[in-house]
Amino acid sequence: MNNAKTISHYEDEEQLFFPDSSFSTRANIQNTQIYDSAWVDYKNYWMGEAQKLHWFKPWDKVLEWHSPFAQWFVNGKLNACYNCLDRHLEGWRRNKAAIIFEGELGDRQVWTYQDLHREVTRFANVLRGMGVNKGDTVTIYLPMIPEAVITMLACARIGAPHSVVFGGFSAGALRDRISDAESRVIITADGCWRRGKAIPLKSNVDEAISQCPTVEKVVVVQRTRVEVKMEPVRDVWYHEIMRKTPAGCQCEIMDAEDVLFILYTSGTTGKPKGIVHTTGGYLTGVASTHRNVFDLKEDDVYWCTADIGWITGHSYVVYGPLANGATILIFEGAPDYPGKDRFWEIIEKYRVSIFYTAPTAIRMFMKWGESWPQGRDLSSLRLLGSVGEPINPEAWHWYHKNIGRGRCPVVDTWWQTETGSIMVAPLPGITPVKPGSCTKPLPGVFVDVVDENGKPVVPGGSGYLVIKRPWPSMLRTVYKDPQRYIDTYWSRFAGMYFTGDGAKKDKHGYIWVRGRVDDIINVSGHRIGSAEVESALVEHPAVAEAAVIGRSHELKGQAVTAFVTLREGVIWATELEDDLKNHVAKRIGGLARPEEIIYAGELPKTRSGKIMRRLLRDIAEGRVMGDISTLADPSVISQLLERKIAI
Ligand code: WT7
Repeated sequence: MNNAKTISHYEDEEQLFFPDSSFSTRANIQNTQIYDSAWVDYKNYWMGEAQKLHWFKPWDKVLEWHSPFAQWFVNGKLNACYNCLDRHLEGWRRNKAAIIFEGELGDRQVWTYQDLHREVTRFANVLRGMGVNKGDTVTIYLPMIPEAVITMLACARIGAPHSVVFGGFSAGALRDRISDAESRVIITADGCWRRGKAIPLKSNVDEAISQCPTVEKVVVVQRTRVEVKMEPVRDVWYHEIMRKTPAGCQCEIMDAEDVLFILYTSGTTGKPKGIVHTTGGYLTGVASTHRNVFDLKEDDVYWCTADIGWITGHSYVVYGPLANGATILIFEGAPDYPGKDRFWEIIEKYRVSIFYTAPTAIRMFMKWGESWPQGRDLSSLRLLGSVGEPINPEAWHWYHKNIGRGRCPVVDTWWQTETGSIMVAPLPGITPVKPGSCTKPLPGVFVDVVDENGKPVVPGGSGYLVIKRPWPSMLRTVYKDPQRYIDTYWSRFAGMYFTGDGAKKDKHGYIWVRGRVDDIINVSGHRIGSAEVESALVEHPAVAEAAVIGRSHELKGQAVTAFVTLREGVIWATELEDDLKNHVAKRIGGLARPEEIIYAGELPKTRSGKIMRRLLRDIAEGRVMGDISTLADPSVISQLLERKIAI
């Protein structure tokens, strides 16, 4: 930990990369006027984007805004599954590959739109047969396999909101999410493949639902054939019930504002928030941005490496691309198995043309060295994307050179679970880019950087990233907790949505996102709430108090660092540190496992008793300490510094 290097954020505001004319003359968007016209009339702009979807009945009004509650495309009727499947069946697209799936062991499946439609309607009938009605939330806990897409779309077809829980979350985290959503049906798999080993999943479900009285049915996809306990009546095999169920299922006519899904994300309290997305606005946002930011063409092979358990998987693996009739690639496994060129092998094999991944992955590829991609034919690539955290300029250049071979535009896309779709990113045919900046807000989006008082910062200034007008794919509320929606997002600055990020606006109006200014830690592009890790730690019998911070980390962007004080009589030992780390991983999931736990005699607090996390971050990152005059007991710091050096 002592020699941890921090990521360099060297920014060159002058360095502009202009789109190559061979790209820009063929780009979907070539006219820079699009920015201005969308600024002038954003409702009209979004109406035009919504019209590219299939509606059973058009809307009466584009936007009804009772701040902070929005309704988009009021009284419009549509179905997300119909838009992703049925409407592509009319012409030749029905035989186009919708999904190319590569399993970890090298197995392969190709699903045409027709195939996908057949299986989705069949599974929709399975759900209806289980008594799932419009409005009932179904929890999906699956690995990256085609069934994840099939079951999500089947839910959308019958109007049952899905709540997808990332397969890396533990039984405890799964239980909290099932309970909050009150799901009666859970969809899972026996296990998943990871680096050649079968990892059990179903057993986590068993553990989770022993405390979830609402659960009546568990559908289990067979993937690894690891042994599972099947509870009679409650548990059914996916392949068996599918065999007995006919395909063909009428879709539910959904209101534009009916809920499409709930997705839980970490907040600043210990309890995860159920972010609520609705149908019409969400689908408009994801389809539009997917087409425009990735410059989607009919014959593209599009690969977003995100897991379906995150918003990136929802918006840019499933809904955006399928609404646009794209061919998506889904890969089950790890980037280094069996070799460190697995991703490049897949790109070569399927001639992937659009590739969307996270800076943390790029930094890992950098560490492995350029010989891995060099050995592969990556000439099919024409556009690269980045998401999840700020991309440091070194990683940007490496990606551009070694993966894009200097030919492909790189789009850095800023957005959040709450925004539903990309908010700030270049339009690759017209927007010059600066490595490290996500450039400017997309047409129809009003992102800005403001100071403490909500005033826009002057060019060159830094402040808080906000959104000043509603947008179609915005979250509508926090599930069962509208007050939390108001408090978290709409109370910091009057009339503006607060993102939780800090940012700088340069003299050209370009945005440079710095990262979270709240208690959320961004580990490898995944959000972990400090409070969640803290409450897991204090559950442990040895721990009295805990304070958790994110410190910068060379590969992960940020790493979880915990400071703990112990109960009377407990003695600090390496075994205890391991035990605490495992406890957090077991309670939340491997991604929340602290990188290090520092034993503190006492935690630094203000005189009013607030833990000073800023100071802890200074300590963890080995910085010169900031102002400690508000500290109740300054000697706490010198003790901590000694401890940290001892690690
Ligand atoms: C937070 C949202 C939806 C993207 C996946 C993560 C950070 C995301 C960028 C970017 C700088 C970024 C922000 C944001 N973030 N993309 N291109 N540049 N920061 O979704 O889990 O909801 O996290 O990720 O801090 O607030 P999420």
